Amino acid sequence: MPKATFHFPQGFLWGSATSSHQVEGFNTNNDMWAWEQGEGNITNGDKSGRACDWWGGRWREDFDRAHETYQNAHRLSVEWSRIQPQPDRWDEQALDKYRDMLQGLRQRKMAAMLTLHHFSNPLWVAEIGGWENDGIVDLFAAYTRKCVEALKSYCNLWVTINEPNVYALSAYLSGVFPPGKKDIKAAMHVYTNMVKAHAAAYHVIHELQADAQVGVALNYRAFQPATWSPMDKWIARFYDQVFNRSFCDALESGKFNLVMHKEIIPAAVHTQDFIGLNYYTRDMVSFRPFKFKDLFAKLFFKPDDELSETGFVANVPQGFKEGLKWARGYDKPIYVTENGVEDSRDDFRRRYTIMHLHQLWHQISHNYQIKGYFHWSLVDNFEWERGWSQRFGLWGLDVSTQARIRRRSVDMYKEICRSNSLSSEVVKEYSPEIYEKIFP
Ligand code: FCB
Repeated sequence: MPKATFHFPQGFLWGSATSSHQVEGFNTNNDMWAWEQGEGNITNGDKSGRACDWWGGRWREDFDRAHETYQNAHRLSVEWSRIQPQPDRWDEQALDKYRDMLQGLRQRKMAAMLTLHHFSNPLWVAEIGGWENDGIVDLFAAYTRKCVEALKSYCNLWVTINEPNVYALSAYLSGVFPPGKKDIKAAMHVYTNMVKAHAAAYHVIHELQADAQVGVALNYRAFQPATWSPMDKWIARFYDQVFNRSFCDALESGKFNLVMHKEIIPAAVHTQDFIGLNYYTRDMVSFRPFKFKDLFAKLFFKPDDELSETGFVANVPQGFKEGLKWARGYDKPIYVTENGVEDSRDDFRRRYTIMHLHQLWHQISHNYQIKGYFHWSLVDNFEWERGWSQRFGLWGLDVSTQARIRRRSVDMYKEICRSNSLSSEVVKEYSPEIYEKIFP
């Protein structure tokens, strides 16, 4: 008899998440692929290439792996550049392929959550100014219409845009995504257009599908003031408002408040049916008065935080708690649309996952309406500007042979999904080093 068993609600969705560009391979018609060809843009000059070869059909074996390990859901994305390769052309064969994938999930009795935009854009969209061009709102709505018409019989859980906050920041402020701009005005403009495009897509989806559930997947990062100084507190609040709160607040009230830019967007009022939360980590924030370029702050991990393999993630479940609390504020169902860690050795991943699931269970026990958890990711995949240097998969990937490598985390996650619970036995078996901490 285990010492304790933390049960999850009946019907809870257990799955993992992927995105088209990261797993499909040969997405040659999008801006990310073009960006990979530029010198110095990607760690080690890595290229997505064949990626996980999903376009070549290996989604089947990966879905089998997920299914055989009791995952009952999967979050994936469709690739705009495949579905609409030119402004005046829709590719029905690409839509057929996505239909096959969704049907593949259904055959395996797995629920599908489908993301329409996950960072990559068709080249033709990039060429007309991408998300800076106000025409993007209508273009995205038309693309959404096409996808929903084609795929709605297989899916009713829609994420319009993945991490609009990370996208606007990475593509227009830090410049690590294409078009590589460092322009705060452009970043705010793009972010505003993303609210508008989401709103337009929301209305299109509901027009076409009565039982659709629509939301965004927002990257929530916990920001903690580095000291008690009022300026540190102020700047942490500023980051929290701009990065964490502004987008989903606008999808309730229609008031978009980026502090430095405010706009009323009536079409955005009441345009989210659930909150999609991507949580990885927490930052300490300290005020830097003369650093306009760094948005007046230095962000860093607390010195005693446990860091992941490449220093990308600090293991702070308390930040997850804050994220879930934020999500609960909207009084809507919550899905954890991403959570995970890069760890090729698969040692930290088990500990990190258990600690975060323990936190998740805790909040569920406080009657948070949490409906599902999608681990990032099912199999190692192409990590944007960090290329193949980060390994987030439950399964590892040998990029040259396409072989999948089963990590111990698979067995752990399988047991959690199978039993719909996290038990002390699982902790003892897969992460004995934290057993005493969880069960003192
Ligand atoms: C998120 C992205 C996802 C992946 C993980 C590690 O910000 O949505 O595609 O890169 O980080």
